[in-house]
Amino acid sequence: MPERRKPPFGKTRRHSMKSMQTELLPVTPSAIARASQRLREGALVAFPTETVYGLGADASNTHAVANIFEAKGRPSFNPLIVHVSDLATAKRYAEWNAQAENLAQAFWPGPLTLVLPRLEAASLSSLVTAGAATVAIRVPAHPVAQRLLKQFDGAIAAPSANPSGQISPTRAAHVIEGLGNMVSAVLDAGPCDVGLESTIVGIEDAGSKLRLLRPGGLAREDIEQHLGAALETHQTPGLISAPGQLASHYAPKARLRLNATDWTFDEKRLGFGDVDCDLNLSTGRNLTEAACNLFHCLHLLDAGPATTIAVSPIPNIGLGQAINDRLQRAAAPR
Ligand code: TXA
Ligand code: MG
Repeated sequence: MPERRKPPFGKTRRHSMKSMQTELLPVTPSAIARASQRLREGALVAFPTETVYGLGADASNTHAVANIFEAKGRPSFNPLIVHVSDLATAKRYAEWNAQAENLAQAFWPGPLTLVLPRLEAASLSSLVTAGAATVAIRVPAHPVAQRLLKQFDGAIAAPSANPSGQISPTRAAHVIEGLGNMVSAVLDAGPCDVGLESTIVGIEDAGSKLRLLRPGGLAREDIEQHLGAALETHQTPGLISAPGQLASHYAPKARLRLNATDWTFDEKRLGFGDVDCDLNLSTGRNLTEAACNLFHCLHLLDAGPATTIAVSPIPNIGLGQAINDRLQRAAAPR
C-alpha cells in the first residue's frame, strides 16, 4: 500500500527545470491567487482534481491551449475537457437539455464529464474542442480545483498532466517527473482521492441517447441506477468513442502482464486481494481503494530498469471496469 502524504503548507518551493523554473505551490489562498494570475497570463498551471492532476490553461486563449498540446506531445485532433466551477457556468459553454440537467444535478461536482453540443457563442478556443461541434465539460469536486476555478472565473481546459500516452498523475511529484520543464506552476494538494479520470458520457440527440465514452471514477452502475436505464456503449469495433481512447495509453515503460495468478521471479508484482506481491492495490479487495492506488503503484513499479509488471485479475464490476480499461490500454502494443 503506498503511503498517503500530507499536503505541503507554507512557503513556495522552486523546482529547477531544464527549460523552465516550475513553481511548486502550496494550497494557500495566496498561492491559488498566484496560480489563477499565471493562467490569466497564458501560462500552463497544473492543479489537483479529485480524479487526477490536470494540466490547465485558459480555455479562451488559443496560444495557451496550443501549449498544452505541445507540452504533452498530444495529437491536435484529441479535444480537451473544459473545467468550470459550477452548473450555471457550464451552461455558458454547452447547449443544455433535460438529461444534462438530470446528470449534472445528480453527480456534479464530481468525476463525471458530459459531452454536449458546443454553444456557438462560447468564448472557447476552437483548439479545445479540436474543431468538433461538441464540448466535453466537467465540474470537479476537489476543493482546490473549486477555489482555483472560482478565482479564475472562467473555463480552464485541462487534460491529465502527463506526457501523452503515459501513466496519469495522481500526485504533484508525478507531474514534475513527466512535465516538470513544461509547466509554469504546480499546485500541490497531495494525492488525488479517486485516482482515475472522470467517466465521460456523451449526451446525443437532445438527450434521447446517452453513451458511455470512457469508463472512469464514477461507476457506470451508479449512473445507470440513477437513470433507471442502461447507457449505450460504442458497438463498432476499432472505432474510438472519445478520441483520446487510443488503444495504447496510460503506458509504463515496463511491459504489463494482466490477470496474473502466478508470478515469475523476474517480474514486478502488482497484487489485488490476499496475494504475495511487491505492491498491493487493495488487500481487502476494495475497488475504490484500488482505483485510488492504481497510477501511483504503476509509477512506483515502473521506476528503475524496464521489466514486466504482472497484475492480479481485477473484478470487472463498478470501478473495476475503469481499472481494467486503464490496464488493458497500458498493456496494449505501443
Ligand atoms: O478526470 C479527468 O477527466 C481529467 C481531469 C484533469 O479533469 N482529465 C482528463 O483529460 O482525463 P484527458 O485529456 O486526459 O482526457 C479527456 C478525454 C479524451 O479521451 C478526449 O478524447 C475526450 O476526453 N474528449 C474531449 N472532448 C471530447 C468531445 N467533444 N467528444 C468526445 N470526447 C472528448
Ligand atoms: Mg489523459
